[in-house]
Amino acid sequence: MPQIKIGILVSGSGTNLQSIINSVESGFINGKIQVVISNKENAYGLQRARNHNIGAVFINEKNYSNIEEYNEAIIKELKSHGVELVVLAGYIKILTNKFIETYSNKIINIHPSLIPSFCGKGYYGLKVHEAAINYGVKLSGATVHFVNEEADNGPIIFQESVSVHYDDTAETLQERILEVEHKLLPLALKYYCENKIEVVGRKVKIK
Ligand code: GRF
Repeated sequence: MPQIKIGILVSGSGTNLQSIINSVESGFINGKIQVVISNKENAYGLQRARNHNIGAVFINEKNYSNIEEYNEAIIKELKSHGVELVVLAGYIKILTNKFIETYSNKIINIHPSLIPSFCGKGYYGLKVHEAAINYGVKLSGATVHFVNEEADNGPIIFQESVSVHYDDTAETLQERILEVEHKLLPLALKYYCENKIEVVGRKVKIK
């Protein structure tokens, strides 16, 4: 089976990116990371890519007059690398509809809560975990899903829960959930690259 060409968007430290790189290098994922793109020049994710001889590209939003043009620039970069699957691994910007149409059901995101709780606009980084703790939920977790026009709303591929402890801080909960994320995202990509994921309406069937 030919290797799926993967493009990854990051904004931060890129621990999820690292889990994907490791899983590709070990052969767990039958794919090839063509390029890693960031909206932040000093995102450590870019350095992680360089450490593994993967193309790392900073695209500066300030060079574009609006979000549409900025997204066009990302699409152009992805296409120039023949990317077939886009992974959002801690990418904090919303994608334009044009972007989502271009890669319809070919964009996968990871979110650090059990969607549809604590997700959507404004729920990113530690804010997600703060909201879960303040609500008093006993379970939170990670969700891997396809991206559609609405933030954190697309068909869910995998979810896994973790316990929320009484004395958790956003940081301790984040750490527990990241451990799950680092398993779940590579697993979803493995299945995607083996053509084992089918989207049926809002539901995802693992074949
Ligand atoms: C993760 O919690 C992910 O679920 C969310 O952003 C965070 C990125 O962490 N979308 P990292 O950059 O992969 O370490």
